[in-house]
Amino acid sequence: MTTNPLVILAIETSCDETALAVVRKHQNTIEVLASAVASQVDIHALTGGVVPEVAAREHVTVLRPLLQRVIEKSNFQPQDFSGIAVTVGPGLPPALAVGVTAARTLSFAWRKPVIPVHHIEGHIYSALLPVVSNTRNENTAFHIPASKEIFPALALIVSGGHTLLIHIADHLRYTVLGSTRDDAAGEAFDKAARMLGLSYPGGPALSRLAQQGNPAAYDFPRPMTKEDNLDFSFSGLKTALYYTIRNLSEEKLATVKADLAASFEQAIVDTLLRKVSVALSRTPARLLVLAGGVAANHKLRTRVTELASQHALHLRIAPLSLCGDNAIMIGLVGTFAHTVGRLQTWEHVDFHTRMSITALEKR
Ligand code: KG4
Ligand code: ZN
Repeated sequence: MTTNPLVILAIETSCDETALAVVRKHQNTIEVLASAVASQVDIHALTGGVVPEVAAREHVTVLRPLLQRVIEKSNFQPQDFSGIAVTVGPGLPPALAVGVTAARTLSFAWRKPVIPVHHIEGHIYSALLPVVSNTRNENTAFHIPASKEIFPALALIVSGGHTLLIHIADHLRYTVLGSTRDDAAGEAFDKAARMLGLSYPGGPALSRLAQQGNPAAYDFPRPMTKEDNLDFSFSGLKTALYYTIRNLSEEKLATVKADLAASFEQAIVDTLLRKVSVALSRTPARLLVLAGGVAANHKLRTRVTELASQHALHLRIAPLSLCGDNAIMIGLVGTFAHTVGRLQTWEHVDFHTRMSITALEKR
């Protein structure tokens, strides 16, 4: 059976990246026709964190030129688009509002439906589908395997705002098995990095420093790993690092910074891995998925790869270019959501600061 190609414009503005993409699905391939990401990292480095109003103003400034660029690059006209996929939550309210307002406006002007997407579904799909052509980011294409080859899947999503274990029964069918009770893994990395005097954003800086340190030098806690649930908590670990640093003289601290970074990273990765192991022992999975900003962490990628091979599981880790926020992942979800009729008219689209990944599920 052949179907008409779907062409989706995707918009992501939930935090500090303004991202747009155009993807086309034809049979079992999804091609990226254009993609652009404008990062605000340099702006937020000045304040050491994201100020929501500043992020929103930046989205407003760069969204229109980026939109023009991706549409031109895609070689499609507004009448060719099947829909506009947009991140409707979770995220920073003023930031989400910019992308959602743009999607509503285009939907009204072009008479095309909006496809609401949950940010975490995007991260899942950034890893779920195998890349079939991996030249430059913009020329990437993804293969859509038969559902029975990839589901059920277990996803570990680790980002600046989220730490989630999600069971995926089929496309767009999720069950949250565990989540963080306080800080997300990326947030813990960022706060630890700040304590160690590293530059923003701290995750990558901390893991670079950790490469020169001894991961067994300090025995930091592995929070909640003895408890019989799949939730995470990283604030105690952060406090343990704080007290360790406080008890060190400045001279000593300078000599053990890399050891502290390596031991902290080890504690986070151990904690994540233990919970994944417990989840696998409880819920059958054919495929293990790792995605989100922290999935760029080298140690985590290595350890998850080892775990998948121990359990004889298929594994998909998001390519480094798709670990951070981007609109390709929103477009990928958009193609599946369009197919099952997850469509809204412009008057009905709204954004949600907090929302469950199951909120958009179409029964
Ligand atoms: O997914 P993402 O780009 O934004 C959110 O949706 O939150 O994730 C950003 C997070 C930041 O906390 C950043 O420090 C962390 O991912 N991160 C890393 C690494 N690269 C990015 N954490 C640890 N190691 C890394 N290599
Ligand atoms: Zn994200």
